[in-house]
Amino acid sequence: GFSAAPPCYPAVEARLSAAAAAITRGDFPEGFVFGAGTSAYQVGVGVLLLVPGNGKRMRVTEVVLKSVLFVQVEGAWAEDGKKPSIWDTYTRSGYSIDHATGDVAADQYHHYKEDVKLMHDMGLDAYRFSIAWSRLIPDGRGAVNPKGLEYYNSLIHELLRYGIQPHVTIYHFDLPQALQDEYNGLLSPRIMSFGDRVKHWSTVNEPNIEPLGGYDQGYLPPRRCSFPFGLGVPCTRGNSTTEPYAVAHHLLLAHASAVSLCRRKYQGEQGGRIGLTLLAWWYEPATRKPEDVEAAARANDFTIGWFMHPLVYGDYPPVMRRNVGSRLPVLTAQESAMVRGSFDFVGINQYGALLVEADLGQLKRELRDYYGDAAINFVTLPFQSTMRNHQERQLGLRNNEAPWALSKVLEHLQIQYGNPPVMIHENGAGHEPDPSGGFLYDDEFRAHFLQAYIQAALGSVRNGSDVRGYFVWSFMDVFEYLFAYRFRFGLYGVDFAAEDRTRYARSSARWYAGFLRGGGDLT
Ligand code: NOJ
Repeated sequence: GFSAAPPCYPAVEARLSAAAAAITRGDFPEGFVFGAGTSAYQVGVGVLLLVPGNGKRMRVTEVVLKSVLFVQVEGAWAEDGKKPSIWDTYTRSGYSIDHATGDVAADQYHHYKEDVKLMHDMGLDAYRFSIAWSRLIPDGRGAVNPKGLEYYNSLIHELLRYGIQPHVTIYHFDLPQALQDEYNGLLSPRIMSFGDRVKHWSTVNEPNIEPLGGYDQGYLPPRRCSFPFGLGVPCTRGNSTTEPYAVAHHLLLAHASAVSLCRRKYQGEQGGRIGLTLLAWWYEPATRKPEDVEAAARANDFTIGWFMHPLVYGDYPPVMRRNVGSRLPVLTAQESAMVRGSFDFVGINQYGALLVEADLGQLKRELRDYYGDAAINFVTLPFQSTMRNHQERQLGLRNNEAPWALSKVLEHLQIQYGNPPVMIHENGAGHEPDPSGGFLYDDEFRAHFLQAYIQAALGSVRNGSDVRGYFVWSFMDVFEYLFAYRFRFGLYGVDFAAEDRTRYARSSARWYAGFLRGGGDLT
């Protein structure tokens, strides 16, 4: 079963248990899309092979040397024309866990036909994937790489051959390294050359998390923070009090200008829908104390509202303006008009809820116990810099199984933001692989998790939410951003040690396939 909602929301809990009987896809409105997703860096369209044949782990310097060697000897880099993204730079510098990279990852670049066949067998309506910008336009702007174009055309062709809708993310964290310093563009209009066949576009994935990970706490590329270390990863000196807001602002404007370009030049003729995808944790007050309720509302405004408010009302949420003051960029009248309404749907990545308490004392004590005194500065200060100064507690460890959180987010979008069409772009449960290297074939916990959330989605549909699709994260095991290969989300497992990256079906894959065929029960 799923964890109960906290006491302050008995209504949601009651609604959910009332709906607890097994559901089938036939309960969803016609046209509701069921899919699963990945992203480019994570499924690995990279082709450089950096792991030495003897299986030894290499040191960072060796990795760098080896990659130079491969560039010169193998020619794979030049042959496929892909240039590095900030994620290549990050992992190749040894910053990710186990020094792992996504250079090969699940290697969909070479296995897409087999993968599309699996999607077909599973009965997916849709596949969500992203385009690696530096594969398509290696320098970030300018010339299109014909091989990159060919790859995505082939993938799209293969999907359509099986009647699977492509839902494409234009930018999923992997900014071309060449653009890193400028950070001012989104994509060349040439990206739209897939628009005759792709009808579902998301401009940016989680623009509300990248500014925090990359420019506030510094644990994601390009690793900027106000302190000389982030969450275990050394970061370079930035300014956490201003940069996250500037970055989010640029992503917002980039999104809006991509949408306006799309509408001006392509949508009329090609149709299709375009939106963006937000990380949408639900922040829930841990108690009924007014300061906790306020802190949770503020956290939601600083996360969902950061983008939804400008998209719907043309400006940042008043609570952000009040707290951040002049450090929060101002939208000119023209920008505001461009941003407002610049979406046909909103994508949400929903993994559960975080409980919020306004009092930082407990968090500080826990951090001090864990990291020592220095932690107080490096964690709480960046948090203060974004005024997310509250403590967050995650519900559950392995999986944040709180489907009522999805109900709350959908209700919030319905009430606060005019009930926009919503795509649940990500929802899923992770697990740590068996340290002995064994595969987890039986992941019934995941099937239960997905079923509970799908049920919550149905509840929201019945409550009038305009949610139109649901995608499991992830279709198969991928390189997980913070945990590399130590955390798996896949319906299909991937044997990362096997040269052909063998895929194997987990119980959850079979359950989802059964659900998509019209069954509903967990078997
Ligand atoms: C958010 C991101 O979009 C995706 O890249 C990541 O792997 C999943 N959620 C799981 O953490």
